Amino acid sequence: MKPATLPVEGVPRVGAETVRACLGHLFTALHRTALYPPDHPAVLDAAAALSAEFGEIFRYAETLAAAVVDDQLLLSGYPQGENEIRLPGGLHDLHRWSIEHLAFTRGLTAVELDQLFALLHRRPAGGEDATTCLTRAGVDHIRVGRLATGGKAPVAETVGIHLYRQAVNEVAAIYQQLGDHHQADLGQARQIVSAVVDDQQHGNQLQALTWLKSHDDYTYTHVLNVCILTVAQARTLGLPEKRLNAIGIAALLHDTGKCFIPPELLRKPGKLTPAEFEVVKQHPALGAKVLRTIPEVDDLTVLVAYEHHMRFDGSGYPARAHPRLPNLASRLCTIADYYDALRTIRSYKQEITPDEALRIMSQGAGTVLDPLLLRHFVEMVGLYPRGCLVQLTDGRIAVVVATHTGFATRPAIRVLTDATGGRLTQPVEIDLAASHANDRELSIARAIDPYTVEIAPETYL
Ligand SMILES: [Fe+2]
Ligand SMILES: [Fe+2]
Repeated sequence: MKPATLPVEGVPRVGAETVRACLGHLFTALHRTALYPPDHPAVLDAAAALSAEFGEIFRYAETLAAAVVDDQLLLSGYPQGENEIRLPGGLHDLHRWSIEHLAFTRGLTAVELDQLFALLHRRPAGGEDATTCLTRAGVDHIRVGRLATGGKAPVAETVGIHLYRQAVNEVAAIYQQLGDHHQADLGQARQIVSAVVDDQQHGNQLQALTWLKSHDDYTYTHVLNVCILTVAQARTLGLPEKRLNAIGIAALLHDTGKCFIPPELLRKPGKLTPAEFEVVKQHPALGAKVLRTIPEVDDLTVLVAYEHHMRFDGSGYPARAHPRLPNLASRLCTIADYYDALRTIRSYKQEITPDEALRIMSQGAGTVLDPLLLRHFVEMVGLYPRGCLVQLTDGRIAVVVATHTGFATRPAIRVLTDATGGRLTQPVEIDLAASHANDRELSIARAIDPYTVEIAPETYL
């Protein structure tokens, strides 16, 4: 069951409907001010409705923020599905000023809204940007700008979710084309990988989403996650960007062979019979065979598809005639593949939290997985990765917002509930690695499954 009210910037009081209505009125007012003189009743009515709605929202929330993505606004802090706003008049005025995010903070005045409207009614002169214009006009409670260049935008997380979902759809199209026609749109794959590489250079939103629960589109979320986690490993190992792109494409296409395995085997919730497992074991060779026939596909992609189930100790499949170590990209992909496969076990059988997944993986160090690369992976994702929900030793529930290398058990967190599970009006930020004397005893007791407490951690990042 979803809560009746949802957060704006983490404050669980304002319903998404209210925020949507307010932004709807904002754009009505914007359009009316373009059509009528300032003292016209249509303008005055819209301004009065808008100021009442903002007043109501700011009784509970500090900030109302939205991202501008194509022809819609995406509200920050609201889950997918409830955060989208399509406006009949479109968002041309925002696009004209290259505004990709928009945030209003408590203290907003009618004069500041008028300044925003005046700005949006005109075209930018050469070199003008919206942020500078509003600052010069004395507007303090409206922030506008671009997502990629404006530092950490308040809505970047929402965009991360949007980007992730969009990439899953694109991956589905690529895999369907591979399965049906033995062809792949490599241009599309390159775009996904460069979005992943770019994201890791600007905020790293996608990695926190790899633990999202998903049953329906498992294969597509799986290969996307493996791509994200493989590129992340390669990046933190210091490999150059050109290599990251090649490794990312290989990881994205690693399970091409699954297109040729009966879906009921891939989705079978219980253990496979030995005969069924023999069929599934064919997917690396089948994938490599098809990929090899596509002229644009490079050798590394074929190799990773072939090798990703080969184990570090020489076992695994396909069987090797002579013992040899799989390629570095394959070994990175195997680690990401194993980690993400444990996410599926969680979907079908039991709940597995990220720390448990790493413990299970550590049992395969030196046999299934390359031990050095695994150690590196554990350091990279952390026992409690960003986006993981945890219970503290005092019973409170928090979401991990940042990890510190070398302090695997003491990340920075945002506390969401009190000790009895009641939601806090205002989340509390604590950096466990920099605890003050008072909360030195405070630590993480365990990671928890968000679905057992009905909290969507990605909306609190
Ligand atoms: Fe596989
Ligand atoms: Fe896989």
